[in-house]
Amino acid sequence: MHAAYPALRLRRTRAAAWSRRLHAETVLTPADLIWPLFVTEGERVEEPIATLPHVSRWSVDLLVARAREAAALGIPCLALFPNTPRERRSDDGAEALNPDNLMCRAVRAIKDAVPDVGILTDVALDPYTAHGHDGLVDARGYVMNDATVEVLVGQALNQARAGADVIAPSDMMDGRVGIIRDALEAEGYQNVQIMAYAAKYASAFYGPFRDAVGSRGLLKGDKTTYQMDPANAEEALREVALDLAEGADSVMVKPGLPYLDIVRRVKEAFDVPVFAYQVSGEYAMIEAAVAAGAADRDAMVLETLLAFKRAGCSGVLTYHAVHAARLLGA
Ligand code: PBG
Repeated sequence: MHAAYPALRLRRTRAAAWSRRLHAETVLTPADLIWPLFVTEGERVEEPIATLPHVSRWSVDLLVARAREAAALGIPCLALFPNTPRERRSDDGAEALNPDNLMCRAVRAIKDAVPDVGILTDVALDPYTAHGHDGLVDARGYVMNDATVEVLVGQALNQARAGADVIAPSDMMDGRVGIIRDALEAEGYQNVQIMAYAAKYASAFYGPFRDAVGSRGLLKGDKTTYQMDPANAEEALREVALDLAEGADSVMVKPGLPYLDIVRRVKEAFDVPVFAYQVSGEYAMIEAAVAAGAADRDAMVLETLLAFKRAGCSGVLTYHAVHAARLLGA
């Protein structure tokens, strides 16, 4: 008689909500979220971004209110990106070194008003260059490695002096993590962290972000000579190994969902804190599906974020951070 029935019924533990909760292997909380925010010049300015529905650029005064909102929801960290005015962009990206640039003013204002929220700042020159590349280009348009790293070190120090808690190099130049780490130590910023965008792919998913920081129309060519080929996974492990050896405290994989295999392999190979960036194109895809009536936003947001945790992430950068934190807090 018994043989007619399954020996083990995995549906048994799924039958009631309390039991499903008890058996959940992965949890998502607001503490897993990093909220990327775009900053713009002016006062009381909110500029919606057409390709990122419900995401705006904020002037520094309004940005501080967003930081308060995030802190109240239990979001531990904000990632800031400036939309540098066109006239302050140049071929050498010198505005990145200006101690009074938009980014530094935003960091200082938030650290003043909401000291308990972490601030992550992106190190790369693309919001500051007239050609839209992350570094300095030579006469043929090639992004020069070592010359760029020299500027990036200055940019990182500029951000640390303004009060940044986490320096996040997203430029993909070779050797930059070690040189930035040394410079931070030499200036007494022992506790300023480095989260390396270690495995960052040359991806079609960054389009709306480039609109948000105003670099899309400026970008000449593509970023394939510095960002990684989507065909490669072994190379991602080499990138991560180097960044860790150079002193990165944590590493990031970017984009997110299409690269969960990389997240898992990095986590298994190194067992260090791994973060993923659910990038602008991923956000836009979810919002487009919602707008088309093809998806339930709340469910899709929570499921995708949980998937990052299950794959091994310590946390996720997501434009849905506030929405998710509200859902999780409810
Ligand atoms: C800048 C940078 C980019 C993103 C984060 N930092 C764009 C790029 O490399 O072109 C993309 C984030 C997103 O798409 O949400 N180096």
